[in-house]
Amino acid sequence: MLFDLRNVSYRYPDGSFALESVSASIENGDRTVVLGANGSGKSTLLRILDGLLFPTDGEVYFQGSLLSEHSLKSVDSSSTFRQSVGFVFQNADAQLFNATVFEELAFGPVQLGLSKTEVQERVTGILGFLGIGHLSDRPPFRLSGGEKRKVVIASVLTMNPEVLILDEPFLGLDPRSQTWLVNTLKQIQSAGKTTIVATHSLETVPLIADKAIVLGEDHRVLRIGSAADILEDLPLLRSANLIGD
Ligand SMILES: Nc1ncnc2c1ncn2[C@@H]1O[C@H](COP(=O)(O)OP(=O)(O)OP(=O)(O)O)[C@@H](O)[C@H]1O
Ligand SMILES: [Mg+2]
Repeated sequence: MLFDLRNVSYRYPDGSFALESVSASIENGDRTVVLGANGSGKSTLLRILDGLLFPTDGEVYFQGSLLSEHSLKSVDSSSTFRQSVGFVFQNADAQLFNATVFEELAFGPVQLGLSKTEVQERVTGILGFLGIGHLSDRPPFRLSGGEKRKVVIASVLTMNPEVLILDEPFLGLDPRSQTWLVNTLKQIQSAGKTTIVATHSLETVPLIADKAIVLGEDHRVLRIGSAADILEDLPLLRSANLIGD
């Protein structure tokens, strides 16, 4: 088992409840979506899976080991975990800080200690794979929202993570870019990687996921199951506030 969440609750320091007793598991190679209304806890759940936040109650295990502030302080387990799991934030600006797109993509591999040639090869490979070579010399902060999203995805992929977590990646993408993202995800998935995507975009769910975790507005799990079955369950979608009345 890749991730195992056992009765995970999360309360922000100001006292806001974000997750209540969430139990769920994710296997290697799973294609999972996290669905839920605004404020249901999707981003919080993804941050917990990425070791950015730690449960205030309950436990989360990664490959059988407890994921905690303490375990991530050990250099070895932290670097293994950080290399295995890539995270694409809801807000791309939070993740872009280099002078050019090329440098943005090279940043991770340089940190990993790869040689200059290896870095060059990896970055060029990802730029080509994602079809964004033309952006290579541009400053990321001057790109459009959709282009920024692509660059963030590219910069995460240069680390070659086994698990890719994406928070609302379809938000603000035009139809062609949405198709681009669906196809990109499919290629990543067919390479055997695990993907976990939080989304409101129900129409993309059957294309990118087999399994869905539905969070209710009470921050509890409303349903975990086959994405196809869940999409057909209109009363469930309505009670999760994923479709209107
Ligand atoms: N930094 C924070 N401090 C305090 N409360 C927070 C913080 N971030 C989120 N919350 C609260 O936690 C709950 C869950 O928020 P979260 O961002 O996980 O929801 P979400 O499902 O991702 O929503 P959205 O669809 O709007 O992105 C909400 O009630 C929110 O107000
Ligand atoms: Mg969110």
